Amino acid sequence: MTSIWAARPLADSDSTSPETGVGPGSSDLGGRGAERIRFYDYHPTPADVRAEVLQGLAQPVKRLPPKLFYDRRGSQLFDAITELPEYYPTRTEIGILRDHGSEMADRLGRGSVLIELGSGSSLKIQILLSALNPAVYVPVDISKEHLLASARALAERFPDLSIRAACADYSTPFDLPLEPGWQNLAAFFPGSSIGNFDPDDARRLLRRVASRLGGGGRLLIGVDLRKDPAILHAAYNDSQGVTAAFNLNLLVRINRELDGDFDLDAFEHQAYFNARESRVEMHLVSRVDQEVEVAGEVFGFRRGESIHTESSYKYGIADFHSLASDAGFASEQVWMDQEQRFTVHCLRVAGTWSQRL
Ligand code: TRP
Repeated sequence: MTSIWAARPLADSDSTSPETGVGPGSSDLGGRGAERIRFYDYHPTPADVRAEVLQGLAQPVKRLPPKLFYDRRGSQLFDAITELPEYYPTRTEIGILRDHGSEMADRLGRGSVLIELGSGSSLKIQILLSALNPAVYVPVDISKEHLLASARALAERFPDLSIRAACADYSTPFDLPLEPGWQNLAAFFPGSSIGNFDPDDARRLLRRVASRLGGGGRLLIGVDLRKDPAILHAAYNDSQGVTAAFNLNLLVRINRELDGDFDLDAFEHQAYFNARESRVEMHLVSRVDQEVEVAGEVFGFRRGESIHTESSYKYGIADFHSLASDAGFASEQVWMDQEQRFTVHCLRVAGTWSQRL
């Protein structure tokens, strides 16, 4: 695979000044620590969102790309999900990082370069940065706004830290803004986001990470465990309906951005554990027979027909080790909470890998 988005570094601290107009509210980038932030924009918004949506809706089993969840409203709703009593993954992973951050830092090697895939929760990265104290932090995130806001906050909080923020879609190849001489690369991939990839794509992504880290590189990765379906069911069907609102927001976004006419009352959120595939499946199910127009095209829905919006694979420890091993990683250590709900794995790139695939 070749790089889809060429690196277009708006490099150097001065490019984050208001004059260059980098990012929304770029004038806010001034402030303590801003000179230690370099921002690299790989322009991750696919020009073909429209094509992707139309293609997904045209499939015999309709689907929509989950990356569309995270517009401004979607990101807020997801933050609300992470605070729900039923949604255990976020707080459980944070607990594991708090309890074992220093062992994790020993494994990753202090003073290293820390790359973060999907710089979601600032709390998790703060715990890790405090334990690891890396020289350079390279957050990668698809949301420019989110990335810049969190880079700014972290630059203030960690006065010795250099930050190279890359706005990119990490699920597609791109060149990380790293210097050739940098040694001791480590990556952090929290939130069990790996579970949102089908196993083949997960292997492909991890292989790419392994290849980029190079022999001996370490990956600290959060992985949600397979468990009692009742617990999973509650986590993805909360009583306040926040999860439902999050899922339905996908249709709100399509209505707005692709001139759609989805009737939000005519679709309902459904999530259930598919044991055979070991994944929670999120769906939007049509309550009636209906037709919906999107970007000038008409799609028919039967009553009960679903749009599959996301999967969240749940792994046993051995299952995940085998996936990681297929991707060129050896397992070094696994940490888990007392209730055995969530794991954080430290993986090491086995053997020697070429710098890039
Ligand atoms: N990545 C999250 C997860 O798999 C996303 C998520 C949480 C989600 N709740 C959801 C996606 C509900 C769709 C619907 O846990």
